Amino acid sequence: MENAQTPTPRKKTILSGIQPTSTPHIGNYLGALKNWIALQDEYDCAYMIADLHAITIKNDPAKLRQQGLSLVALLLACGIDPQKSILFFQSHVPTHTQLAWVLNCFTQFGELSRMTQFKDKAEKHKGNVNAGLFTYPCLMAADILVYNADLVPVGADQKQHLELARNIAARFNGLYGDTFTLPEPYIPKTTARIMSLADPTRKMSKSDENPNACVTLTDAPEDILRKFRRAVTDSEAEVAYREGKDGVNNLISIYSAVTGKEIPAIEAEFAGRGYGDFKTAVGEAVAEHLRPIREEYTRLMADKGYLVSVYKDGAERALRRTQRLVEKVYRKVGFVKMER
Ligand code: TYM
Repeated sequence: MENAQTPTPRKKTILSGIQPTSTPHIGNYLGALKNWIALQDEYDCAYMIADLHAITIKNDPAKLRQQGLSLVALLLACGIDPQKSILFFQSHVPTHTQLAWVLNCFTQFGELSRMTQFKDKAEKHKGNVNAGLFTYPCLMAADILVYNADLVPVGADQKQHLELARNIAARFNGLYGDTFTLPEPYIPKTTARIMSLADPTRKMSKSDENPNACVTLTDAPEDILRKFRRAVTDSEAEVAYREGKDGVNNLISIYSAVTGKEIPAIEAEFAGRGYGDFKTAVGEAVAEHLRPIREEYTRLMADKGYLVSVYKDGAERALRRTQRLVEKVYRKVGFVKMER
């Protein structure tokens, strides 16, 4: 029988993050952020700006600070609702690094050496292969495990890090008894890996030097249109989703995600028409989809007081939610309890 004592079932927990290294692009948005927004009602969500992760690459401090604040506005403009979810800076919540140290000691050198993102970044930044870049996945595991997150919405490029987080959690649980929830990745089907518009064999990336490779969430409509019109496709002039058509597949996936149209319907819509029409239609649909986000972003950027109140409240709530778990882990590994 239902009565006032019946406990409401606990909502499952989500944690995810994004680095403030530059303005997010449509890959970040379609691979991850769109799911962050969509899952807010069903889950208890914690979303963070991964500024600690960002310094594993050289950054200009003033620029990093500015990008961090802009990212708060942009995430809110995309639809993160601070009444439902917590939004905070990773560096404001010390429990992440407190747990990360312990997880470092339960992760093997060999495991970290196998991480493809480490290998790629070490190759790209040969002059700065720092220890933080190497242990990056341990901090990421701490971000997730410190919330006992059930689900982590990310793009495909984070899957390997997620698997490592699960392995570390399972290893710790095996040694010390049930401590961490094993997190599941939540990766979209067709937009898990949005590719560069200039080279569709490579993923769209914030650090791409070619400005036409990447469409950011704050690009002006005319720039969006120009980038899509120049997008690299193939010489077949057939709008069809199939193997070997990386450029066209990428554009179809993007078009489908922003219009809600199914892939066969898109193929039918453009049957017998050239790539010119198709690319223009994709560019216009993306520009139209991003228009309200850009407008809301501009409005929010003028209200710094509000942005500060959101991330301050987010950090306080994040800390309260995670302190107990860190204490538990510290006790389990044998640290003497700190008396307050
Ligand atoms: P970051 O900042 O590189 O990317 C943020 C999110 O965007 C996704 N993504 C993409 N999805 C589809 N196509 C693309 N071309 C594309 N590029 C990026 C990423 O998969 C990610 O979901 N390590 C993380 C940040 C992080 C984190 C965490 C994430 C730190 N701690 C804990 C989840 C849980 C990163 O660098 O994301």
